[in-house]
Amino acid sequence: MTRIVMFAALVLALAIGVWVVQLPDDKLGNGPEVSSTTGEAIVAVIVPELSGKAALGANAFDGLCAGCHGANAGGIEGKGPPLIHKIYEPGHHGDFAFVRATQQGVRSHHWSFGDMPPVSGATDADIEAIIAYIRTVQRANDIY
Ligand code: HEC
Repeated sequence: MTRIVMFAALVLALAIGVWVVQLPDDKLGNGPEVSSTTGEAIVAVIVPELSGKAALGANAFDGLCAGCHGANAGGIEGKGPPLIHKIYEPGHHGDFAFVRATQQGVRSHHWSFGDMPPVSGATDADIEAIIAYIRTVQRANDIY
């Protein structure tokens, strides 16, 4: 009887240990520093000078995406994740991830903000410009 209890305690301790060790990595990756106050920007974004398509994309982003992804795509505590983040570098989330996210929405998997619904009213040109904008700002923040 004591053996069974000890074995159960050991299994439980191991399970908790694994859970605690894995939690932070799963949630946040290794991006810039993350703050924790509700409603605030999640990352401090360096905003480069924007021109051409990237400047158009900034406008479209402000209208269609910034409500959840924050000003300069720096994220908003309690609302949505930063896209200026290592998770979204081109090698992890290629340009098509932006097309798919906008048109079909995203099932929550990297963060705990819930699902992203499809964005209505975004044209193909909007999405293309938004990608140019995000990649330009990512590069200015050493994410590429
Ligand atoms: C209603 C809130 C909301 C709006 C509006 C929104 N998003 Fe999102 N988006 C989210 C959330 C929340 C996630 C994170 C899902 C997760 O946990 O992985 C996300 C994830 C993403 C991702 C990652 C997709 C992936 O494959 O993991 C991209 C890219 C993205 N959004 C782009 C955009 C763009 C571009 C716009 C504007 C056209 C936009 N989002 C508007 C909430 C939103």
